[in-house]
Amino acid sequence: MTSPPATTTPDSDRQTPIRDGIQPPLIQKGHELQSFGTVRQLPIGLAHDARVYGCRRLNRLLADAQMLYGLYKKHHWLLRGATFYQLHLLLDKHAGEQLVIVDALAERVQSLGGVAVGDPRHAAEITAVPRPPDGVEEVPAMLSRLLQAHESILIDARDAATRLAALGDDGSNDLIVSAVIRTGETQAWFLAAHLTDTPLTRV
Ligand SMILES: [Fe+2]
Repeated sequence: MTSPPATTTPDSDRQTPIRDGIQPPLIQKGHELQSFGTVRQLPIGLAHDARVYGCRRLNRLLADAQMLYGLYKKHHWLLRGATFYQLHLLLDKHAGEQLVIVDALAERVQSLGGVAVGDPRHAAEITAVPRPPDGVEEVPAMLSRLLQAHESILIDARDAATRLAALGDDGSNDLIVSAVIRTGETQAWFLAAHLTDTPLTRV
């Protein structure tokens, strides 16, 4: 009786042991380093209280812009009817513009030494934009919902811009006026134009 051949490992299958320092530590836990609502000291010549107040107002607008972005995307997807294609494109364009505002507001908060609202669940706790139904509404109701969101944001943005200018925070004032207010007003104009009942072929 012959014994089976001894098992050998081919040279190509031989594994090199993983050396210390080459394996990334994939699972790590740390402590929160800065609490939400606090500001770090930065050399930008703005008083601590002004920066705390500015971050609070900016974070509210940031949360609203995040919700408005989500609302635009939801309606971009759920639209239907004869105007589907043009509104599908328009709402996506507006969503993209709101996303730019989201980033600008968040980075303004950071530049004031604060902590930007990042998690959408946190943003949902702060926003004043009402949650829409999870299902589908009629298209005019979708547009009306977007217009109401725009108006509440614009009212808050104008108040924030005025108060922040009075505190000497011209940078935040400029961002709110040039981005949040001007873009919001233009988007509201485009939306409202679609709610006007106009004849298509005869006067
Ligand atoms: Fe899309």
